[in-house]
Amino acid sequence: MVIKMALIDISGLHKSYFIGKLETKVLTGLDFKFNPGEMVMVMGPSGCGKTTLLNLLGGIDKPTTGTITVAGNNLGELNAKQLNKFRRTEVGFIFQFYNLIPTLTALENVILGIEAVIQDKTELRKKAEKYLNLVGLSDKMHNLPQELSAGEQQRVAIARALAKEPKLILADEPTGNLDEDRGEKIMALMQKLKEELKMTFLIVTHNSSLKKYADRTLLLRRGQLALN
Ligand SMILES: Nc1ncnc2c1ncn2[C@@H]1O[C@H](COP(=O)(O)OP(=O)(O)O)[C@@H](O)[C@H]1O
Ligand SMILES: [Mg+2]
Repeated sequence: MVIKMALIDISGLHKSYFIGKLETKVLTGLDFKFNPGEMVMVMGPSGCGKTTLLNLLGGIDKPTTGTITVAGNNLGELNAKQLNKFRRTEVGFIFQFYNLIPTLTALENVILGIEAVIQDKTELRKKAEKYLNLVGLSDKMHNLPQELSAGEQQRVAIARALAKEPKLILADEPTGNLDEDRGEKIMALMQKLKEELKMTFLIVTHNSSLKKYADRTLLLRRGQLALN
């Protein structure tokens, strides 16, 4: 019998932040599995812990208790070096506030984001250009972030994550600064990558019109994650 392994396995996940002795409980016992090639939307009110959840899954932050396994890696068992490699190779992160390097052009930002997975310089540049084209930025590749609109910066951040073609994309409000038409195009691109490359997408959004792209929609509320 072949047992299909989940791409993400979350078990008993709790996350609190402490400011001095004051505890803010954000996640209070999450148990979930996500399959390879699945597109999941996570919705929920502001402050409910959506970004916290993505940071934990991407190995940027650590749980208070509980385990997270992503693509066979138990994140709690990785040392700092292994965790860094995991982040650089297995996960494409689309940050809510983009996190572009201000002194690098759009093209250089995307190249920097995928350096860990492509060694050949020519191929690296080709791949970065391909994804900037796919998000509609072929004419802005050599602009610095400050020379781009918020929506254009968001698309650079999207290109940087997708160009890695990783097993997992974690996207924090990826269409938050895009107009409706552009947002739909980005979602269609992600859906295509999901189907062609079997990439898994976890997308945090406030926009319920994106639900139609999801295989499952989950609601994060009062520290719990549930089917919506
Ligand atoms: N680094 C931090 N230190 C203390 N509290 C934090 C920190 N990050 C987030 N929080 C708190 O955790 C809660 C969840 O935040 P967040 O995950 O950013 O929510 P969302 O992305 O759903 O808006 C909020 O109450 C926020 O104030
Ligand atoms: Mg957030």
